[in-house]
Amino acid sequence: MTLITTVHSYAGGVAKSATARDLSAALAIQGYQVLLIDADHQADLSVSLGVDIDEEFVQADDSFAHTIGPAVLGTGSLPTPRRVFEMALIPSSITLYNLEKEIKSDVSMVLGLRYALDEVRASGAYDFIFIDTNPTLGDMATLALLAADQVLLPVPPNRKGLRAATFIKSRVEKGHYQRLNPQLQVLPPVVTQTPNTTLARNYLREIDEVFGETLGVIKQRPGLYPMAMERGIPVPHLDQGEGRAEVMTVAQAFLKAVR
Ligand SMILES: Nc1ncnc2c1ncn2[C@@H]1O[C@H](COP(=O)(O)OP(=O)(O)O)[C@@H](O)[C@H]1O
Ligand SMILES: [Mg+2]
Repeated sequence: MTLITTVHSYAGGVAKSATARDLSAALAIQGYQVLLIDADHQADLSVSLGVDIDEEFVQADDSFAHTIGPAVLGTGSLPTPRRVFEMALIPSSITLYNLEKEIKSDVSMVLGLRYALDEVRASGAYDFIFIDTNPTLGDMATLALLAADQVLLPVPPNRKGLRAATFIKSRVEKGHYQRLNPQLQVLPPVVTQTPNTTLARNYLREIDEVFGETLGVIKQRPGLYPMAMERGIPVPHLDQGEGRAEVMTVAQAFLKAVR
């Protein structure tokens, strides 16, 4: 069975892309078949895995053809994924920026990714699919949420992080996506970018109160994470110490939560 998880928050910089990249890499290291889908035109996830198709191709149409774009428009199917760190990746490109406008002109496109992934699911090729979203509540995020079984919220232990995660949790639970995707579930969140401060510890308690449980706590590591992005290497591959260990622990908690 293939489980589809969308990593989401309307807030930017909360470690959506880092969480999608590192959790996927951790599951792939354990032998699971993972497909990563970059649905954010900023392409941070793709670039942080060493794939920059806006650099690779001169023509915008060529980069667009390697993204989810044609499948969403209904003009083509999903591209053949790249292999990166024992995972499959459908990368993003700045050309995805225009999709939001296209969806506005034909609202059925908001289900385009879901339909495309129904086929991937039926093929049984993957245990897990992760979709990384852009920080909005707009149509690109909706497209990703309608394609998913569950939503994973990265929450930094601060006011911005908790506000965004609480809002999305209640939006899903109040049935915002109910009519088009009745099975969408909210997973326990991952606490990200956690500094060693009293304020952060207070927010950790609040996060526990709101969500009941979390998939674990990722510490703020200002050396490691920017380096992972810079070198295009997931944390569990770049680091052999505590940084890797805490990501592997989150992956264990994820497996337990979805079983
Ligand atoms: N645990 C962490 N410690 C330090 N920096 C981090 C950590 N997690 C993410 N970052 C950095 O924070 C920034 C935002 O992360 P990113 O995953 O791109 O967020 P988002 O996708 O939510 O916008 C990036 O520069 C990333 O390298
Ligand atoms: Mg991102």
